[in-house]
Amino acid sequence: MSLPDAFLQDLISRNRIEDVVSAYVRTKQRGRTAVGLCPFHGEKTPSFTIYPETTSFYCFGCGAGGDVITFIKKIENLSYIDAVRFLADRAGMKMPEDKADDATSRLRVKILEINRSAARFYHNILYTSEGRVGLEYYYSRGYTDRTIKHFGLGYAPDGFALLNEMRKMGYKDEELAAAFLIKKSSRSGGYYDIFRRRIIIPIIDIRGNVIAFGGRVLDGSKPKYINSSDTLVFKKTNGLFALNFAKSSKKESLILCEGYMDVIALHQAGFDNAVAALGTSFTEEHARLISRYAREVIQVFDADAAGKKGAQRAISLLRKTGVQIRVVTLPDNKDPEEFIRIYGPERFKLLIERSVNDVEYQLIELGLKHSLNTTDGRISYLREATKILSQLSSPIERDVYASKLSDELSVSKQAILDQVMRYKKTDTKQRKKRELSHAVRNSEEVVRKVNPEAGEHLRAARAEEELLGLLILHPDYIDIICENLEPDSIVTRFNRGLYQCIVERHRQGKMTELSFLAADYHDDEMSYVSRMVQNARETVHTPEHVLELASVIKSEHRLKVLRNPEQIEDDKIKEVLDVLRAKKT
Ligand code: GTP
Ligand code: MN
Repeated sequence: MSLPDAFLQDLISRNRIEDVVSAYVRTKQRGRTAVGLCPFHGEKTPSFTIYPETTSFYCFGCGAGGDVITFIKKIENLSYIDAVRFLADRAGMKMPEDKADDATSRLRVKILEINRSAARFYHNILYTSEGRVGLEYYYSRGYTDRTIKHFGLGYAPDGFALLNEMRKMGYKDEELAAAFLIKKSSRSGGYYDIFRRRIIIPIIDIRGNVIAFGGRVLDGSKPKYINSSDTLVFKKTNGLFALNFAKSSKKESLILCEGYMDVIALHQAGFDNAVAALGTSFTEEHARLISRYAREVIQVFDADAAGKKGAQRAISLLRKTGVQIRVVTLPDNKDPEEFIRIYGPERFKLLIERSVNDVEYQLIELGLKHSLNTTDGRISYLREATKILSQLSSPIERDVYASKLSDELSVSKQAILDQVMRYKKTDTKQRKKRELSHAVRNSEEVVRKVNPEAGEHLRAARAEEELLGLLILHPDYIDIICENLEPDSIVTRFNRGLYQCIVERHRQGKMTELSFLAADYHDDEMSYVSRMVQNARETVHTPEHVLELASVIKSEHRLKVLRNPEQIEDDKIKEVLDVLRAKKT
């Protein structure tokens, strides 16, 4: 599917990359570029760079790169065409007619429609005899009708209830299966409902689409929850339950808890800024999502061992994003929902007010693990505690906690600070080393995936990459190169295709900048191409240099032909022999 260049050009000029990216990444101006922490991998030193002049981005850390459309594709997890649609919406532009629809985005729209109908079916059934048992369950947990309606909660009856209903509405089995609502039985080959005899919690994204479902049993049977698998409209690892409500909360922080039920109970009690991960453990993507919507997050995890482990995991992931973290510890092994039910919202509010920051929380937890009455216990406590303090970037904070520890354990503050700085140094060194080796590994991996032949033909690939980067960056060279370099002479397959594409577009008078290639290349390919453009930015270029690159490629191609003569047709062999003869004389 191809969009008219004029439309794309308009789209790109109305969606300045620096503005689009700034909704996701905090950036700092650095000369003509802007830099920030990469949203596609965890890092502490900014290596994500935006180039407004070429409307592109490139991350030196993970090798991700591309134009503004690629950026939206990756960060919003959309197809190419939906990313274009997203940007068109953003700029108030109309999509060109018809052409905009391909099979995948039609199915995506269909799945959203199906999900909405299914959610309505599951909800409405609560108020019939078939769903009465679900409604009773909600009441038994103290949910009001208002809450049930607000969240669109429902009930999935036994048997083929949904399947029958949706078939009646005209949906096809394959579409329902693509929405993860029905499944094919491996025994009978027939389809059956995935959610049966479960209360149903619809997952709604920030645009108001029903993207998935969670289903909980009414009794103690296993598994307690079934959650939608990933579909065209849902990716488990980067959605947060109730973010659609929490994002418009007046409160400045987000409350992060573990379960759907906790979130619902908190919202009912007036804490409309509560969210939870969706049936998976907390991920880096969740952390980034949170940091987009709030400067502070209040963690309220269950008080059991699993909850504590989850809290530590969330702390370390959230810390990377720079949000402030507070941690609430619930008494008596309660989860947030039980706590509210027993003690009420006021007491919960007090807990939040008394919550400690992430460092204090970690020190408290550490204290519980060590006996501070013995010398050994105190030493190992101090060792771990100074490690925790070494993660603080603010010297003032380090000083405050060092004073506290010094008072508590009667150890000199200076000794504590010295130890903290020692950890900090090795930490920074190791981190930089880690980030660097990650960077190298990532970009090598991208090349291996996208252009595997580059490994065998290093010299050729290097010249091709440089040449292609220069052509994309400076289209005025395309004419001279066209005259001097046949596409067939490009040694590695991916680069050959890219060169053909550039030459072809150029011949048709079309644009050849990154943004116009995005339609034909997937994310990794765009990253590879962006890397070429990135390197070309640093190259001193003259027509002579560009022609020299072309001749390197041609001679590498001849060598390749010589090594594998059986791969080419007769006329090519003749051509090679001619060249060889010419060389000899
Ligand atoms: P209640 O026991 O009803 O209070 O539910 P809860 O939502 O508090 O659940 P719990 O604390 O046991 O688990 C927290 C979250 O982990 C749930 O909301 C689910 O997202 C997820 N989860 C729990 N059990 C399962 C399971 O069996 N399978 C899957 N996939 N996810 C689960
Ligand atoms: Mn619970």
